[in-house]
Amino acid sequence: MTQITKICCIGAGYVGGPTMAMIAKKCPHIKVTVVDLNEQRIAAWNDEDVNKIPVYEPGLSEVVAEARGRNLFFSTEVESAIADAQMVFISVNTPTKTYGAGKGQAADLKWIELCARQIARVAKDNKIIVEKSTLPVRTASAIRDILTHTGNGSQFQILSNPEFLAEGTAVEDLDAPDRVLIGGDSTPEGQIAVQALVDVYANWIPRERILTTNVWSSELSKLTANAFLAQRVSSINSLSELCEKTEADITEVAKAIGTDSRIGPKFLKASVGFGGSCFQKDILNLVYIARSYGLQEVADYWEQVIIMNDHQKKRFANQMIRDLYNTVNGKKISFLGWAFKKDTNDTRESAAIYVADHLLYEQAYISVYDPKVLEDQVYADLDYLGSRTQEENRNGVKVVSDPYEACKGAHAIAVLTEWDEFKNYDWQRIYDSMLKPAKIFDGRNLLDTNKLSDIGFIVQAIGKK
Ligand code: UDX
Ligand code: ADP
Repeated sequence: MTQITKICCIGAGYVGGPTMAMIAKKCPHIKVTVVDLNEQRIAAWNDEDVNKIPVYEPGLSEVVAEARGRNLFFSTEVESAIADAQMVFISVNTPTKTYGAGKGQAADLKWIELCARQIARVAKDNKIIVEKSTLPVRTASAIRDILTHTGNGSQFQILSNPEFLAEGTAVEDLDAPDRVLIGGDSTPEGQIAVQALVDVYANWIPRERILTTNVWSSELSKLTANAFLAQRVSSINSLSELCEKTEADITEVAKAIGTDSRIGPKFLKASVGFGGSCFQKDILNLVYIARSYGLQEVADYWEQVIIMNDHQKKRFANQMIRDLYNTVNGKKISFLGWAFKKDTNDTRESAAIYVADHLLYEQAYISVYDPKVLEDQVYADLDYLGSRTQEENRNGVKVVSDPYEACKGAHAIAVLTEWDEFKNYDWQRIYDSMLKPAKIFDGRNLLDTNKLSDIGFIVQAIGKK
C-alpha cells in the first residue's frame, strides 16, 4: 500500500478543513473525506453558497468550490469514512485541560483517545494514522497503544505531520509552505508509511521542502516552532513597555533590530498580546512536559512568555482606565476588532476577550465591531470565562454590524485586531460623533497617529510615548 487514493480526516475545523481542501485540490486522484461529529459544521461546509463555509480564510472558498463534490467530501458518517480510507488524519481539538491533574496546562487528549478507539473499532485493514492536531510530545505512543491493544489485528503506522499554517494566510501557507514535516518509525514499515505521505505532498511541494524525522522530533518541533514565535512577540511586547517610559519608539526599534539577518524582521510587531488556539496552549504543554521530567528551569523559562503576554493584555486595559480619569464606570468604550488577528473569524484566546473582561469588572459599557466575528461568538467567549452571568455580559456588551455606530457617543476606542479596513474609515466623522476628549488606544499600532492627532484625537499606541 504505497499509492494513497483514499484519505479520511477526522475533524472539520480550522486545521482539518483547509488542509484537506488543499490536498483535494492538488491531488485530484485522491478521494478526500472530511468527517466531523458536529452536524451543523458539516452542513456549513456543504452549503451551496461556498462563501458560507464555517472557516473564513482568504481564498479558501475558491479552493472548496473547485474540489467539493469532485474528490472532496464533508460528512458526518465518521465510521464508514474511516473504514474506507487507507490514510486517516486526526485533526480534532486538543484544548488545555480544565479539570484534574495538569489543569490549565496539559492538553486534554480525550478527543484524540476517542478517535483512536473509534479507528480501532471500525478498521478492517491496515491503515496509516497521521497526527495533524498539535499534540504533546509522545502522544503517538498513546495512540499506538490503543490501536494495537484494542484493534482486530490490523496493522497501523502512526505518523506525526504537524500543521504550520497560520490562520488568515492558511491558503498561501498550504500552497507554498516553508516546509512540511513528517515524523515516522525507523522500521521498514514505518518508512513505507512516511514515503506514502511524502508522495501525497510531493504532488505540489518540492521534495527538498519535505523533511522527515523520527516521530518525537516531529512532535516536539511543532511545540518548539510555536514557542519560538510566541517568545518573539513577548520579547518585543516587553520592550514596548520600556519604550513608553523612555520615548524610544517600538516600531523603530523593531525595524532596527529586524534588519539584522540573524534576527529577521518577522514576528516583531508589538501588540496588545498574542492570541490564537496554538501559542498559549503549546507553551503550556511545553512547560507541563518539562516540569513532569523535573526540568524546573526549562519550564520557568518558557512560562515567562505566557506571563509577559498576560501582563501585556492587563497593562493595556489598565492604561485605558488610567487615561479615562481612573474610572470607566458607565462609559461607552468601542472595540474595533474581536478576532485574535486579521483575516480570520477565529477568536480563541483573543486579547480582546481579556481586555473586555477587565473593563467589565470596572463596569464599562462596551460596543464591539468586528468585520467577521458574529455576535453569538462574542457572548460565547465572554460566557466561557465565567466571570459574570450571561445576562450581565449581554447588558455590558453590545455587538454591532456598523463601525460608525460602534464608535458613536463613545469616550474611547480600542483597536484590538489589525483589520485593514480600520485604516480607511472616515475618522473625522467618527471624531465628530464621539464624546470629547476623544481617545484612541491602538493595540496594534495600526492607525496613522499624526492624522488622528490632527483631527483632535488623543492617541495612545503600544510602545510609543
Ligand atoms: C500560529 C503559527 O504561526 C502557525 O505556524 C501554527 O501552525 C499555528 O499557530 P496562528 O496562531 O494562526 O499561527 O497566527 P500567528 O500569525 O502566528 O499569530 C498569533 C498571534 O500573535 C496573533 O494574535 C497575532 O496577532 C500575534 N502576533 C503575531 C503579534 O502580536 N505580533 C507579531 O509580530 C506576530
Ligand atoms: P483546530 O483548530 O485544531 O482545527 P477545531 O476546534 O476548529 O480545532 O476543530 C476540531 C473539530 O474536531 C471540531 O469540529 C470537532 O467537532 C471535531 N471532533 C472532535 N472529536 C471528534 C471525533 N471523535 N470525531 C469526529 N470529529 C471530532
